[in-house]
Amino acid sequence: MKFFVDTADLNEIKDLASTGLLDGVTTNPSLVAQSGAKSFIGLIEDICKVVKGPVSAEVAATDYATMLKEGQRLAKIAKNVAVKVPLTPDGLKVCKVLSDGGTMVNVTLCFSAAQAILAAKAGATFISPFVGRLDDIGQDGMLLIRDIVEIYKQYPAFKTEVLVASVRHPVHLIESAKMGAHVATIPPKVIRQLYSHPLTDKGLATFVADWKKTGQTILDAA
Ligand code: G3P
Repeated sequence: MKFFVDTADLNEIKDLASTGLLDGVTTNPSLVAQSGAKSFIGLIEDICKVVKGPVSAEVAATDYATMLKEGQRLAKIAKNVAVKVPLTPDGLKVCKVLSDGGTMVNVTLCFSAAQAILAAKAGATFISPFVGRLDDIGQDGMLLIRDIVEIYKQYPAFKTEVLVASVRHPVHLIESAKMGAHVATIPPKVIRQLYSHPLTDKGLATFVADWKKTGQTILDAA
């Protein structure tokens, strides 16, 4: 399973990339606004230098012609840019043109299996179903992931990867992995939560204390 980080904070991205576990990055207009970056193009350039895997950069327009031009501009930044387009009729038209031309496309704001089928037919590299936002309105976001994974499996010609988005906690990630989702894009805070277990901390404290009792050091051993 691939791990992307869902942030536009360059320092967070650098820190998480140093773990060696980061396969890509997703950004969106809200995350870019939060980052305070003055140049969106410059920010994506910088992220693409830090992470070699797919870096999603989202178009800002909503009409076909402008979205296409924006997508083409974003795709020029670096080979690993995945242009992010919304799941609308115009967005999927842009998806088809860009993906036919060899650009990676991430189709975002997916909330139904029917929408995911359309995105696969439009040649999306990634489909981004938003699990947390479905949970927020009293639906079960993980059921959508189960449906999309199952549907895509029926059609080997679909090359679209399921990129679980709007992840709010580690259970979203565990359930996604059990279902065989290809990728999860995870906020930095949730990535850090993945490491934690109170018994790990407790066990390590005991090992450190007991090791001290031996009076030995591994590095000074003959
Ligand atoms: O990047 C898209 C998605 O992950 C947004 O998540 O938490 O704003 O619903 P959230």
